[in-house]
Amino acid sequence: MKRLFKNIKGLVNVWDQPPVLVSGREMKELPVLENAWLAVEDDLIADFGMMSEWPGISDWRDLEVIDAEGKYIFPAWCDSHTHIIYAGSRESEFEDRIRGLTYEQIAAKGGGILNSAKLLHTESENDLYESAWKRLNEMMYQGTGAVEIKSGYGLTTESELKILRVIQRLKEQHPLTIRATFLGAHALPEIYKGIPDKYVDLIINEMLPAIASEKLADFIDVFCEKNYFSVAQMERILDAGQKFGLPPKVHVNQFNSIGAIDAAVKKNALSVDHLEVVTEADIRALCSSTVLPVALPCCSLFIGIPYTPARRIIDRGLPLALASDYNPGSSPTGNMNLVVSLACIQMQMTVSEAIQAATLNGAAAMALSNTHGSISPGKKANFFVTKEMPSVAFLPYSFGSVLVEEVYIGGEKR
Ligand code: NIG
Ligand code: FE
Repeated sequence: MKRLFKNIKGLVNVWDQPPVLVSGREMKELPVLENAWLAVEDDLIADFGMMSEWPGISDWRDLEVIDAEGKYIFPAWCDSHTHIIYAGSRESEFEDRIRGLTYEQIAAKGGGILNSAKLLHTESENDLYESAWKRLNEMMYQGTGAVEIKSGYGLTTESELKILRVIQRLKEQHPLTIRATFLGAHALPEIYKGIPDKYVDLIINEMLPAIASEKLADFIDVFCEKNYFSVAQMERILDAGQKFGLPPKVHVNQFNSIGAIDAAVKKNALSVDHLEVVTEADIRALCSSTVLPVALPCCSLFIGIPYTPARRIIDRGLPLALASDYNPGSSPTGNMNLVVSLACIQMQMTVSEAIQAATLNGAAAMALSNTHGSISPGKKANFFVTKEMPSVAFLPYSFGSVLVEEVYIGGEKR
């Protein structure tokens, strides 16, 4: 099937030869081709150009021509950090927070991740699949084209495997591109209180080998934080993951800076995510590395914690990616349009920086740069067409409005 989009007001993040990611000052530049056409063949982007250089079409059979007058076409969002395999919901904790409890206080009294783990334990694989499918659809219709999904609400071998098998089925059956991350070290189960290293042993000796033998994970994650997992425990888990070829993508510096960034750099992490609390030493560690920082502004908004200091990161020449952190506790949304708006409104990111962070850099944070994150010949035809709008900046400016009109994933209209 061939599709030709014509009269496009602006083709956003368009590159003949896209970089793997963009860092520092490069993020300020967002290539936009005005008054353009875009050709799609089967599931791939075939070509693009200016309307003044309309392509010669020799064969009109099976060709659909779509008029995008007044509209922009963006590469689909690349959401590199989500936890969408969960049972139930946690709005009672939301109400607790409204009454004044903090996220950490709620976790300390048995809420939080352990609450979701309890709910997931009795949920069937099919029900988890159905609810995650609906979340993926919602994300897709909001313009997302690639998603990383973590386990982490299982916390037993059986339940972690259940989650990862659900992700595997979604990978095979859902149109979105999906990457799976094993996050057994998300919280310490009640029965390991006082003997946390025994749980780390279980992760290393039982969960990881089982997951690796079924090839259920692409990456490994640890929530490295006070009252969760220490730097030494994270190092042990990442070393074990490395033996199975799983690159780390880790939760660090959400509430405290405890040396996790430095450790993640030494373990060659693909990304370090959260970073709401960042010291100068943390920034220096990042500057000496190729590790990609990832910010999650909807989590900051929802639980009222600081925003990742994007300016301090980007102005030092570092790259930054943006993701939704979609999960039932700290960010119950997968809306990347809101993520991009918040990055502009609360993190002082420019419109170009925020869009780069949610497309090219988001793809890089999932090791999907070759196929996703920009409008480039040979990449997957994953993009969205906006409603008519006056400029690129109008999209993040109109926060809360739905400006994504049509979504194409793998070249098909969804
Ligand atoms: O990324 N910080 C750790 N994990 C999630 C929250 C999980 C939850 O509250 O259920 C996060 O914010
Ligand atoms: Fe998270």
